[in-house]
Amino acid sequence: MNKKYRKAIIAGNWKMNLLPSQVKPYAEELRNLMPKSKTCEVALCVPFTHISTLRRSLKDNRIAIGAQDVSLYEKGAYTGEISAEMLADLNVNYVIVGHSECRQYHGDTDIDVGRKAAALLEKGMSPIICVGESLDQRERGLTVDHIRYQVLAAMSSIPEEKVRQCVIAYEPIWAIGTGKTATPEEAQEVCETIRAVIRSKSGARTARSVSILYGGSMNSSNAFELLSMPDIDGGLIGGASLKPSEFSKIIGAVAEVTGEEQK
Ligand code: PGA
Repeated sequence: MNKKYRKAIIAGNWKMNLLPSQVKPYAEELRNLMPKSKTCEVALCVPFTHISTLRRSLKDNRIAIGAQDVSLYEKGAYTGEISAEMLADLNVNYVIVGHSECRQYHGDTDIDVGRKAAALLEKGMSPIICVGESLDQRERGLTVDHIRYQVLAAMSSIPEEKVRQCVIAYEPIWAIGTGKTATPEEAQEVCETIRAVIRSKSGARTARSVSILYGGSMNSSNAFELLSMPDIDGGLIGGASLKPSEFSKIIGAVAEVTGEEQK
């Protein structure tokens, strides 16, 4: 399927790493290293405490701001939570929902993930909806069924006209932070399934415009191969996004792939 209908996105997921005081030097280094190519949207999903500093440090709009989760609730007595409206007020562009760590540690269910995504869309932000199978599910041959279920469950809360603003990230749980990456073929198979699910639910035009990312130990050595796959439009990068030198090389890999496609 032709990639020209959708955005290439490289999103860094800092998780609970780096201090607020490290944001400015990071942003300066990344701005100096960023490849000139405009083929790729770059986003940094940082802790809530870092968002305002990141916004000030970036100075231009070449890098989008992202957060890592959002409350299910709109406002009120929810101690410790951050609402979609608060993030929109800080001009956040992307918000990760349903990351396997949030599913594991905060008990987020597939239905919660869909409701969070809908709340973000309502406020004009794009959710990065994470799905992925465990090692046990992969070994038992359940990967495709599980992913299909997760995508449909999340999509069930999302209004049809907003589906194309969603980003889906395929993150096999066994590949996250382990140094074990899915092979390009394994990742492609699942990303193709995700697009087929969207196609069957929302039609071919919507399916071809939704960006699907791969995440799980992506780095500058394996990015090119993964990003060359027809249904992988970008990456959600954890560990390798913490160093501007490494992260900028992954951004460069998108430009290389796009350059090849244009030849
Ligand atoms: P990783 O994390 O790149 O460190 O494996 C990816 C993620 O969890 O989003």
